[in-house]
Amino acid sequence: MRFFVLSVLVWAVSTSARIVKTGNSCEIYPEQRAHYGKEIDDVPQILEAFESCGNNGTVIFTEHLFYMNSVLNTTNLVNCEVVVRGELRFSTDIDYWRSHVYPVVFQNQSTAWLFGGTNVTFRAEGGWINGQGQEWYTWNHSRGNTPGRPISLTIYNSTNVLVDGLSVIQPQFWAMFVWESRNISIVNYFVNATGNGTGSTTNTDGYNSWNSDTLLIENADITNGDDCIAAKGNTTNLLVRNATCHHSNGITIGSIGQYKDSPDYVQNVTFDQITIDNCTDGAYIKTWSGVESTENSNGDAGGGGKGLVKNVTFSNFNMSHVGLPIQISQCIYTEKSSQYCNTSQLQIEDVTWVNITGTTRFNIAASIYCSPEVPCPGIRFDNVSLESVNHTLGLPMWGTNQQVELFQCDNIVDQEESGIPCNKVAPDNFGQTVKHNLQ
Ligand SMILES: *[C@@H]1O[C@H](CO)[C@@H](O)[C@H](O)[C@H]1NC(C)=O
Ligand SMILES: *[C@@H]1O[C@H](CO)[C@@H](O)[C@H](O)[C@H]1NC(C)=O
Ligand SMILES: *[C@@H]1O[C@H](CO)[C@@H](O)[C@H](O)[C@H]1NC(C)=O
Ligand SMILES: *[C@@H]1O[C@H](CO)[C@@H](O)[C@H](O)[C@H]1NC(C)=O
Ligand SMILES: *[C@@H]1O[C@H](CO)[C@@H](O)[C@H](O)[C@H]1NC(C)=O
Ligand SMILES: *[C@@H]1O[C@H](CO)[C@@H](O)[C@H](O)[C@H]1NC(C)=O
Ligand SMILES: *[C@@H]1O[C@H](CO)[C@@H](O)[C@H](O)[C@H]1NC(C)=O
Ligand SMILES: *[C@@H]1O[C@H](CO)[C@@H](O)[C@H](O)[C@H]1NC(C)=O
Ligand SMILES: *[C@@H]1O[C@H](CO)[C@@H](O)[C@H](O)[C@H]1NC(C)=O
Ligand SMILES: *[C@@H]1O[C@H](CO)[C@@H](O)[C@H](O)[C@H]1NC(C)=O
Ligand SMILES: *[C@@H]1O[C@H](CO)[C@@H](O)[C@H](O)[C@H]1NC(C)=O
Ligand SMILES: *[C@@H]1O[C@H](CO)[C@@H](O)[C@H](O)[C@H]1NC(C)=O
Repeated sequence: MRFFVLSVLVWAVSTSARIVKTGNSCEIYPEQRAHYGKEIDDVPQILEAFESCGNNGTVIFTEHLFYMNSVLNTTNLVNCEVVVRGELRFSTDIDYWRSHVYPVVFQNQSTAWLFGGTNVTFRAEGGWINGQGQEWYTWNHSRGNTPGRPISLTIYNSTNVLVDGLSVIQPQFWAMFVWESRNISIVNYFVNATGNGTGSTTNTDGYNSWNSDTLLIENADITNGDDCIAAKGNTTNLLVRNATCHHSNGITIGSIGQYKDSPDYVQNVTFDQITIDNCTDGAYIKTWSGVESTENSNGDAGGGGKGLVKNVTFSNFNMSHVGLPIQISQCIYTEKSSQYCNTSQLQIEDVTWVNITGTTRFNIAASIYCSPEVPCPGIRFDNVSLESVNHTLGLPMWGTNQQVELFQCDNIVDQEESGIPCNKVAPDNFGQTVKHNLQ
């Protein structure tokens, strides 16, 4: 009897130096523990752990520092629980990453870690991802989207994934991308993509989704240098609740309509209980123009895509010190030259901004420019109350002859019933970044 128990134990607990496997649970210990702290790539044994416990099992990153010096493909997991108790630190070998990252197709972008499967949880219990993005921010300084700069974590081809408690510190590029997936929930999510300089950490989007359905983001705090949360093409049934965006470009649908032969449909999207803190933009929708162009300011080209944005609600936003709180633009990247802004055929309809309060940096609250090819029906403002910071401080409102908060409008169907206090025609060349009071 005694002998029998012992032999079961030996069979169940097979211990290697780096992965401790107990039943279907794999605990990973970093390689460096055996190499006196020397920086050794931990990715091979991480992949081994997923191989071994990714199907009906648990993969545990123990409370240690893991060096992530290579790309990871941990897709097609089934009924798998991932627990992160340590720091997952990506290396900064830019040449390595640029030549090894996995493409994510969209905008010719790529990722360091392809993750996902069916019925997967990724729970951070005190652990986090460190993208060591500073090297990338410095390298990418004053450039736009640069091929090969990797997204930290991409959830791909997945169904039923819960990511709970994840922090991404200094992501290399976008912190998270949800791609060709459904029923993906990201809760208690924290991102800080702050660099050591005064400039933006360009393209460090907090969250992007593309070709994905039934999505949740709840309880998020994101500090970054681009879109805080962006619903890209074919994002449907997205609910974002209780999120705070600091210092970024705010919450957006877009850019969409980039690909001429691939229409984008974005439907049933709600952003609720959102704090926008000192951002250039707040709650807006951006599409490319109706004409394909070969050049733009963001490092990739496009335009001419059709599609539909329908049934979007921005509710209960608290904005403070926001450059352009509310916008629709239908010619992102060409608006500065007023080129083709009247050409988009991407229809936008049934969009409501309700309970939007707070302060604006300048004398503008909203600019709604719909393409005359497809004027927007069903645009509604309900309890939108925004005033300039200066006004709230009792200072002169602004040094221009415009002494009211501006609400710019054009090509809104039934504008009188929209509830928007339109007091200026929206120029077709209005960009996302407002830097001064308007005349
Ligand atoms: C995982 O569990 C399911 C249901 O219990 C079973 O059908 C399947 O064969 C298991 N897969 C593996 C790889 O053990
Ligand atoms: C990732 O791994 C899966 C196997 O799990 C494989 O089918 C797929 O081709 C790999 N993806 C890439 C981009 O290498
Ligand atoms: C995923 O979970 C659902 C609900 O628990 C279950 O019905 C389904 O069989 C699971 N899928 C797989 C591939 O195990
Ligand atoms: C910021 O980090 C970069 C890359 O590590 C470094 O070259 C630069 O000196 C740092 N700048 C400051 C102000 O610390
Ligand atoms: C996508 O996931 C399905 C299972 O849901 C799998 O059969 C298929 O191989 C995966 N595709 C890729 C490219 O990994
Ligand atoms: C983000 O990181 C910067 C630089 O490390 C730090 O100053 C700032 O306090 C952090 N923000 C949050 C919300 O933790
Ligand atoms: C909202 O999210 C923050 C994290 O960003 C969390 O601290 C807070 O408890 C959440 N509020 C509610 C009501 O859940
Ligand atoms: C969006 O979905 C539609 C059909 O559902 C498809 O034709 C189109 O290619 C998708 N768009 C993109 C950009 O993938
Ligand atoms: C609009 O989307 C919301 C979810 O964001 C959904 O509850 C509602 O039923 C949708 N309305 C229509 C008319 O589809
Ligand atoms: C939008 O929501 C409504 C109501 O829930 C649903 O009937 C419709 O299928 C959804 N649309 C899409 C594209 O998922
Ligand atoms: C807004 O952020 C900028 C840096 O992005 C900072 O210089 C400024 O003091 C902040 N203003 C407020 C009101 O927080
Ligand atoms: C807007 O605010 C009012 C008053 O607080 C509240 O009753 C209403 O439910 C809010 N609307 C939405 C859509 O949250």
